[in-house]
Amino acid sequence: MLEIIKNRRSVREFTDDYIRDNIINKIIEMGVWAPSGLNNQPWKFIIIRDKKIKDDLSLQTHYSQIIKGASVLISVFLDHDHSYDRVKDIQAIGACIQNMLLAIHSLGLGGVWLGQILKNRTAVEKLLLVPESCELMAVIALGKPAKTKGSGVRKEINQVVIGRL
Ligand SMILES: Cc1cc2nc3c(=O)[nH]c(=O)nc-3n(C[C@H](O)[C@H](O)[C@H](O)COP(=O)(O)O)c2cc1C
Repeated sequence: MLEIIKNRRSVREFTDDYIRDNIINKIIEMGVWAPSGLNNQPWKFIIIRDKKIKDDLSLQTHYSQIIKGASVLISVFLDHDHSYDRVKDIQAIGACIQNMLLAIHSLGLGGVWLGQILKNRTAVEKLLLVPESCELMAVIALGKPAKTKGSGVRKEINQVVIGRL
């Protein structure tokens, strides 16, 4: 587990290998095992493989090449019909997304959390025919990595721990 957490890196270039539905379902299953306040599980997902929809989506973000190059996109929504506290619900969605990224990595695949697309949230929701109650939180692009990942950079522990009382 510690290795999986530390070695996961964002992957932005993919081969055109097909990722089967049972693998996508497994990734989502790992996402929904994330904790949520009152176990309200406020997440919903739309899985995108269709080239035309990917092309249309790619126009809504600076990261169009990642969208177009991914084998699969998993868009993640906060469902307001299952929401009880906005901050806690969004924290739960973050945990869910991280679980999925770790699952993707542990399955030998690669993925990246795309947030910049949120600037065109309304257009994306329209394009994906999202139910009224659902708010876009992120898009995960995934596939088989096309190249080896970089090593990553993080702040030192003593830069982030601001107290030991
Ligand atoms: C909330 C959030 C939004 C992000 N949005 C984007 C994005 O729009 N495009 C992108 O290429 N990466 C995006 N990332 C990935 C970050 O750039 C990446 O996680 C960070 O640089 C650390 O690199 P690593 O994931 O390889 O450790 C996002 C990550 C988070 C958590």
